[in-house]
Order: sequence, then structure tokens, then C-alpha cells
Amino acid sequence: MNDEELAGKHIVLGLSGGVACYKAAELCRQLQRAGATVQVVMTEAAAQFITPVTMQALSGRPVYGSQWDAREPNNMPHINLSRNADAVLIAPASADFIARLAQGRADELLSLLCLARPRERVPLLLAPAMNREMWAHPATQRNLAQVAQDGATVLGVGCGDQACGETGDGRMLEPHELVEELTAFLTPKLLVGRKVLITAGPTFEAIDPVRGITNHSSGKMGFAIARAARAAGAEVTLVAGPVHLPTPRGVRRIDVQSAQQMLDAVLQQVQSASVFIATAAVADWRPATQAAHKIKKDGSGEPPVLRFVENPDILATVAQLPQARSGALYCVGFAAESEDLLAQSSAKRLRKGVPLLVGNIGPATFGQDDNALLLVDANGHRELPRASKRVLAQQLVAEIAARLPHH
Ligand code: CTP
Repeated sequence: MNDEELAGKHIVLGLSGGVACYKAAELCRQLQRAGATVQVVMTEAAAQFITPVTMQALSGRPVYGSQWDAREPNNMPHINLSRNADAVLIAPASADFIARLAQGRADELLSLLCLARPRERVPLLLAPAMNREMWAHPATQRNLAQVAQDGATVLGVGCGDQACGETGDGRMLEPHELVEELTAFLTPKLLVGRKVLITAGPTFEAIDPVRGITNHSSGKMGFAIARAARAAGAEVTLVAGPVHLPTPRGVRRIDVQSAQQMLDAVLQQVQSASVFIATAAVADWRPATQAAHKIKKDGSGEPPVLRFVENPDILATVAQLPQARSGALYCVGFAAESEDLLAQSSAKRLRKGVPLLVGNIGPATFGQDDNALLLVDANGHRELPRASKRVLAQQLVAEIAARLPHH
């Protein structure tokens, strides 16, 4: 099943020498979990930090470390290994290795492979990893500028504790961040120049300072859409209710609690947006009053009586804005129904006044990593079959992009 973001992709994972090699083991695993096949190539220095045996066991393929490797019948591992790759990712890319690339050196297999790869077809991505002084050194910065000018994509570095005991810039990005960067890099840029605003997660409606009403929405679908939209080149703002999910890279996140706060944040951000996607499970009602202090038992044995008022409908409010009515803002709603999904979704689309409504086919359990979706628009409906939420998010982004007016 084509169920993962990097399904069908073949990645050459190059390791140059540095302590960050320990992260390459996990990176290899995560690339495979995302559906990629991984061919590991290591420099001699990298093999000082992690053994080829480990990388071979993890990748399930022979690891290459020398241009004189007799396993290749034509003695040309640098050609054979690079021709069928979808990308070459050097992680870690040491200061020395970047210097070698900047000079176009070809005296060991990994730099030879980088130089000999077909540049138009096989992109080169570098995940630098080094001590903060090495990172800041003008020579390194000069080399980075040079390799970028030569067409390589230099990924960022993290800031924090370093193996040498110092603190600063130069840490290699974490494996999950590198997978996210690589996926984004390989994603077609369908939403370049578009601003996408997304709501996600539950809302929390306070009763008093310590209690409130919420629901089990995990926020996973909304976060996956934010990630996929950013990967497709959009500028993404995510208005999130209380969830414990990491912010997708490159996405601006605004945390809110209540439906009213979510509406306020959305109305502030929506002016410049060209797409609005409402995945949040907004509480339909909130307590009519919010007690300033914790409500105490009064000794009478009578429980308190809560009165509720209806929350604003964020999606319907946005769908009524002039830019939505004129078609400049494309609105997408979600629906979780327990029966008759097509009829309910079609009715909800009209009631909310949005061009596209996405029904959750389920399962109806919250927090699942997979789902199936029913897309309902003015022309009819179609199903996106069961897949991981990340893959569904990619497909949904493509569906939305295809429905946007040209600009
Ligand atoms: N929605 C919203 N604000 C609300 C309620 C819902 O923005 N106050 C959005 C949701 O984010 C979703 C869509 O409207 O995109 C449908 O949400 P849902 O809860 O299924 O619809 P309701 O309008 O609450 O209808 P009902 O519960 O009666 O089915």
C-alpha cells in the first residue's frame, strides 16, 4: 500500500565524520519507516563514529565506503549508487566534507559520488553538524555559500548542547526534522504563494479556573495538513486548541483555548489567507458564565447547575466574509458523522456555505494515525481511501490546490 510519505523513494544516505553519526542510525530507520529505501555510503572518518555493520543491519543493504570496492562489477560504485537515487542526503555533513564539496574534490567515494551524480535529477541535501566555532568560521560559511550556489540544499542546524561541552549553533537537526525537511523538499510545490490558515484540535471551555469542557480531538489531521501544506510551498498558520503535538517545521502556530479565542485568532489571520481549512473539533457550547474562583461544594449535597450558551461557528463565520463569498478565500470544512456520511456531509457543506466539505470515514476513534476521507463539493463526491493521516493530508492538499483559482 502506498501508505507513507516517502513511498517509492530511494535515498542515498551519506555519512561524513562527526559525533552526530550516532543520529544517522535513527535517521536511517525513520527514512525507511516513511517508506524510502536507503543506501548508506560512509567516509572513512564516519566509520570511526559508527560502524558500517550497524548501518548495514539497519538499512538492509551493503554499505559502501571506498571507491575501490570490488563488489561493483564495473568498479564504479560512484556511478552505480547515484543513478537511481531520488536524493542524496549527507547527514552528518562535517565542516571538512563541506569544504571538500566546495572544492569539487573526488578522492574518496562519498565526495566522488556527489560530484558524479546527475545534478538535474538527483538533488543533494546537506545536514551540517559541527562545533559552534567551526560553524561560525568564515571558511565554513564561505564553503556553505559555495555549495549552495553550486545547487546543493543546505538544511539548517539546531542550537543547543554540543558533544564538546559547548553550547551554540551547529547541532545536526534531529532525525524526524530531517525526514520532514527531505519530504518537504521532494513534495511538488502546489501551493507556492498561497497563505493557508488551519484550525486544529479541540477547544477547552472553562467552567472555573480549574475545570472545563473539552473533547478527545487529537489534532493529528490538522497538524498533518499544516505539514503537507508547508511542504507544498504554502505559508501556513495553524490555530491550535490544547493538544500535545510538535509544531510542524516552518509552520506558524497560535495556541488558543476556547472557541471564542479560536475565532478571534482566525479573524485576525484570515485577511491575507487564500485557503481556510477548519479541522478543529470546536465545542458547540460553553458555560454561560465562568466562575472567577473554584466552585466549592456548599454542603447542601446539591450539585451545581451549569447553563450553556452556543459558541460561534468559526467556519460559517469565515465562509460569510466578503473574500470567501467572492472566491478569493477558499474554505474547507470537516465533518465527523456517525451515520449516512454522504448525505450529512452534503447537507453540512450547504449549511456552512463552503465549496468543499471533507467527511471523516473513520474509524471514529480519536487519536488514530490513519483515516479515510470523503470529499464533497458542488460537482459530486470522491473518496480518499484508507491511509496514514500524513498521506491523506498530502492528497487533500493536492485536491485543494487543484480547486483554487489560478493566480
Ligand atoms: N466548526 C467551527 N466552529 C464551530 C463548529 C464547527 O468552525 N463552532 C467547523 C469544524 O471545524 C468543522 C465543521 O465546522 O470543519 C463541522 O463541524 P461539526 O462539529 O461536524 O459541525 P457542527 O456545525 O457542530 O454540526 P453538528 O454537530 O450539528 O453535526
